[in-house]
Amino acid sequence: MAYVRKEIGVGDIKRQEEYCAEVFDRITANGARPLAMVDTYGCQQNEADSEKIRGYLAEMGYGFTQDEFRADLIVVNTCAVREHAEMRVLGNVGQLNHSKKAKPGQIVAVCGCMVQQPHMAEKIRRSYPVVDMVFGPHELWRLPELMLRYLEKGKRVFETTQSDGTVAEGIPQKRDGSIKAWLSIMYGCNNFCTYCIVPYVRGRERSRRPEDIVAEARELVAAGYKEITLLGQNVNSYGKDLDTDVSFADLIAMINDIPGEFLIRFMTSHPKDATEELFRTMAECEKCAHQLHLPVQSGSDRILKAMNRHYDSEKYLQKVELARSYMPDLVLTTDIIVGFPNETEEDFEETLRLCEKVRYDAMFTFIYSKRVGTPAAEMPDPYSREDKQKHFDRLLDVANRISAEKHREYEGKTVRVLVDGETGKEQYNLSSRTNGGRLVHLKGSKELLGRFINVKITGSNTWALYGEPETED
Ligand code: SAH
Ligand code: SF4
Ligand code: F3S
Repeated sequence: MAYVRKEIGVGDIKRQEEYCAEVFDRITANGARPLAMVDTYGCQQNEADSEKIRGYLAEMGYGFTQDEFRADLIVVNTCAVREHAEMRVLGNVGQLNHSKKAKPGQIVAVCGCMVQQPHMAEKIRRSYPVVDMVFGPHELWRLPELMLRYLEKGKRVFETTQSDGTVAEGIPQKRDGSIKAWLSIMYGCNNFCTYCIVPYVRGRERSRRPEDIVAEARELVAAGYKEITLLGQNVNSYGKDLDTDVSFADLIAMINDIPGEFLIRFMTSHPKDATEELFRTMAECEKCAHQLHLPVQSGSDRILKAMNRHYDSEKYLQKVELARSYMPDLVLTTDIIVGFPNETEEDFEETLRLCEKVRYDAMFTFIYSKRVGTPAAEMPDPYSREDKQKHFDRLLDVANRISAEKHREYEGKTVRVLVDGETGKEQYNLSSRTNGGRLVHLKGSKELLGRFINVKITGSNTWALYGEPETED
């Protein structure tokens, strides 16, 4: 059946706020302010979801802690993209036995992508009695209702209905930090790359309305945020499910028009949908960072086909060339999967060759992880974990060498950065990012936090640049 866009009504969200008030009365009945801990795994989309979870929890009356032994409520927001992520979650959830023993009445909730998989929800139901509440990404908007139900009945709550997903506006958000903000522009994915679990757990692609996105961007700028990162699994297909004809490039231009000094970043772009219109808009909009995360996944056309990526290496290279022709200073990053089922030595060599041709500023490399229910999980895979690890190590060497070389090219140059954090170290006490997103450590006064400044690059390594703020005259 075709996907039908489902928006949650304003009234439904209002009702959730009423539930928040009811939860508030219950959990603050003894006069003390309860504490919550939210532990987040996975991608930026999950970080953004956790800010909504915290928004709701703050409305319910919770304060926040990072200490599980002090928390009255622990929410674990999980990721399912690789087995390693799931093992970490399960290990940590198992450990919560200790905090729960030490703090009777502690509530443990597990939410996010991992529990949207029926076998995982079942595993938690059977083997993790420490968990009181389980809810998938599609149920996040009704967290207050689920909390109230748990408090009223005292019975475990499991809500992971299979759904194509919804769009909910008006959920309160409690953001991390005051300089950089996430802004989700769309949810879900329609691409069904054969290795990937995301479309199964996050549902179909659905876009927020442009006016809601621009209004949120305005609020962020007014609140003093200096960097807005637009989020979606495939931002290039933004708006396709809406009755407007606002493209992703149009959206960037609309946000660029908001007065103020701030930077627009975005992720992730699927290469098959990255257009010349996008590259032109990026080049023309002075607030849009010249940064593109364009995951190639593999350099072998045979493997790209098996992955269902809808491009070959030549098409990919053409896109890179086109993007660079509009933005010669473009910072380009990628994701690569090593050891996809039946990936041969020759396939792997092609990935290496592509990386040498493109020369990425940074590469995020992963060993293929079999995901239950995906087509790739059924493909024959004759190669051992050791073989894959060898390829992975070789790729990492290439990635690190190229990153170091590209970083060295910055030495002696002056670059504009946004100072965005403190490192806790003495020599280089501040961290910052260039327009293209490269990390720059520097020494300077805390006053610089949240400011765009010029920095002279004095040193570099594989992971970062080092510099000195230029004095303003
Ligand atoms: N929507 C984004 C990526 C989301 S997942 C995109 O299409 O680019 C982030 C990255 O995790 C992917 O780019 C891919 O490189 C990696 N990944 C996804 N599924 C994986 C799997 N089963 N095993 C290993 N890596 C995987
Ligand atoms: Fe996964 Fe592919 Fe969708 Fe990215 S585009 S989330 S890799 S299915
Ligand atoms: Fe993980 Fe879900 Fe993101 S599976 S990578 S948290 S969309």
